[in-house]
Amino acid sequence: MTHKPLLATVLGERQERPPIWIMRQAGRYLPEYRETRTKAKNFLELCYTPDLAVEVSLQPLRRFDLDAAILFSDILVIPDALGQSVRFETGEGPILDPVSVASISGLGKEKDPLEHLAPVLETVRRLRAAIAPAQTLIGFCGSPWTVATYMIGGRGSTDQAAARLFALRHQEAFTALIDVLVQTSVNYLVAQLEAGADVVQLFESWALNLDDDAFTSHVIEPNRRIVEGVRARIPDAPIIGFPRGAAGNLARYAAETGVNALGLDYATPLDFARTLSPHLPVQGNLDPLRLVAGGAQMDARIDAIIASFADRPHIFNLGHGIVPETPIEHVARLVNRVKNG
Ligand code: CP3
Repeated sequence: MTHKPLLATVLGERQERPPIWIMRQAGRYLPEYRETRTKAKNFLELCYTPDLAVEVSLQPLRRFDLDAAILFSDILVIPDALGQSVRFETGEGPILDPVSVASISGLGKEKDPLEHLAPVLETVRRLRAAIAPAQTLIGFCGSPWTVATYMIGGRGSTDQAAARLFALRHQEAFTALIDVLVQTSVNYLVAQLEAGADVVQLFESWALNLDDDAFTSHVIEPNRRIVEGVRARIPDAPIIGFPRGAAGNLARYAAETGVNALGLDYATPLDFARTLSPHLPVQGNLDPLRLVAGGAQMDARIDAIIASFADRPHIFNLGHGIVPETPIEHVARLVNRVKNG
């Protein structure tokens, strides 16, 4: 038994009211984030400076009665740690020098990736000490396919065509890339759990646009291997999987990867989600734009989501990350409604 309601829910215990955290809860919708952000010369430096990363991780907890802190970092620190050039341009998102068939075998060879990520692990240790005992500390990484889409395409895209084609044309190199990502992610998540994370989340943000064979090889298998690899070193490690866009593959993802809890995107119908195994903890799934618009439509949808999952372990969250234009008062209203009805 744990006295952390969010962790307990991941482990399968239904709560009277759902615990809540918000994907991307530290970020640009908060003026204090924008202020702290100016103290780092770029976004990755913000992620690698424990003083600043701890500060921004704690900012949403000072404003709202949230049940979890999430480590402030990014899914693209892994390619950076593997030696690929990664930068964040304001207004453009991440830009990477794309990997090639020839460059993949050199990834992670120059420097131990965990050594590069040591400041992030230091942030986890400090957060552990800073948060209240009832709050859950969430660590995370990107799932291999999602990270690979950025490494291959060099930037975000709507259809991941570059990565999908690369996987078809250069099967061996693609497999080698997924292998190095699985191995690095296992080591990184184990290190986060050892540094004090209670739970880790696998962000598979691009689980869409894949046929079912590709979904099996690109999404299910690598996520399953990470779960297995982490649990080989930390038995029973609590893991949330968030395969955004998995749609008809959701139940299979949950059953075959072995994650404890399943993150639902906002396009997942509530009636469909209710057909998932009744003991499976679910997380989600308010449309972030409902939070931007606020008011009666938001309240009604919050209530519908809570009612849908009243009979199973449920963690309230958005169905994808909070967006910068979100009014802070709407976030306060959301948290209050989830916690107090
Ligand atoms: O509060 C938290 O949730 C913790 C921090 C966190 C960030 N990114 C900080 C961030 C987490 C968990 C992520 C995950 C992440 N990063 C994902 C998966 C989740 C998702 O939204 O699908 C992905 C795909 C990325 C890659 C990434 N990082 C992109 C595409 C971008 C640019 C677009 C955008 O939303 O800004 C980032 C930058 C980023 N990561 C910011 C933050 C706060 C904004 C950068 C800034 O302040 O300039």
